[in-house]
Amino acid sequence: MSDTMQTVNFRSIQFPNRFALAPMTRTSAEADGTPNALMAEHYERYARGGFGLIITEGTYTDDKASQGYANQPGIISDSHIEGWKTIVDRAHAAGSKIFIQLMHAGAQFQANRYTDQPLGASEIAPKGTPLGLYGDQQTWRTPSTMNENDIKVVIEGFARSAANAKAAGFDGIEIHGANGYLLNQFLSTYFNNRDDNYGGTLENRARLAVEVVRAVRHAVGDSYPVGIRLSQGTVTDPEYQLPEGAEGFRQIVEAVRDAGADFVHTTDSDVHRQNFVSGDQSLASVAADVEGLDLMVNGGIEETNHQDIANQFPGALLAVGKKALANPDFVQRLKDGKEIAELDFQMLLPKATITNELAWREQKGS
Ligand SMILES: Cc1cc2nc3c(=O)[nH]c(=O)nc-3n(C[C@H](O)[C@H](O)[C@H](O)COP(=O)(O)O)c2cc1C
Repeated sequence: MSDTMQTVNFRSIQFPNRFALAPMTRTSAEADGTPNALMAEHYERYARGGFGLIITEGTYTDDKASQGYANQPGIISDSHIEGWKTIVDRAHAAGSKIFIQLMHAGAQFQANRYTDQPLGASEIAPKGTPLGLYGDQQTWRTPSTMNENDIKVVIEGFARSAANAKAAGFDGIEIHGANGYLLNQFLSTYFNNRDDNYGGTLENRARLAVEVVRAVRHAVGDSYPVGIRLSQGTVTDPEYQLPEGAEGFRQIVEAVRDAGADFVHTTDSDVHRQNFVSGDQSLASVAADVEGLDLMVNGGIEETNHQDIANQFPGALLAVGKKALANPDFVQRLKDGKEIAELDFQMLLPKATITNELAWREQKGS
């Protein structure tokens, strides 16, 4: 029987247990994207709370159009690298590994200190409305279509940021290919109506993700952990489905593996959700069937189901989001048999900043 408290290896790296903190945006960096002391305390809390792996919030990768939110952290300047170093050191001192999530917002663009003009796969804005948790923007701006040079800038930004992250001491890289951000936009037939090498067929739509993985791998060397987070749905359109179904998803997973990814992180509202156009598989089960990759799964993992999920996906890391927000010491609580709290969304209102969370905790005495 698999035990979520046992060590697990992703290639050369050993995690003290199977639990990862899911990446969660908190828009709490300095205005120039530098991670600060508040963020260091925040991440240290989860490391002390027992998470074997911390994944940072989505972090922007270039000074063109990658930033999506005000006070989002970056990893493109010396001060960004220095800020992250402190966070990495504190996570390590508390016994956790820590990966950075590299993210290009693309059309899912609410604020950017370098430009007012989003760039995307095509001139198509996201469905729905911008996320109030992350800013005051009321409507999406329509992105301009990325040309080949813009795409080159994206790829170089990911590669350079990955090298910066390695220099800051991170244990690995998670590329954000999920939830409606840029790489996911290229994969999506809603966002991508290009008629060049980056649009149309699944192979073409996956080309940007593949090229980013390859460039990141090249930047950090062979033995350094590199993976990609993948979903079908987006934050404002959780029901989106790939027209190519489970078979198409399998092809994407194989393509990123062949480009140099050594893990894939699937995310859905529920690990078990069967949401392909046909069939009864989940994202996680399709990815688990692909050989030669480590796996991380996410969606609805909590105190009642973690053991079953760990058994179903032997060797996989289990990434926990909302239950971790409610219980930064989720893993320690499980170990001690203590009660696990439900997330009170008031904690993230009116904005999902760490300052608002701390004010809520003080008020609640938690
Ligand atoms: C406040 C908040 C911020 C999030 N920010 C990110 C992010 O930066 N990158 C990402 O890939 N997912 C992000 N997510 C999604 C979570 O990583 C996770 O996939 C989602 O909460 C579902 O997992 P859960 O059921 O364990 O909560 C965020 C979720 C929340 C609640």
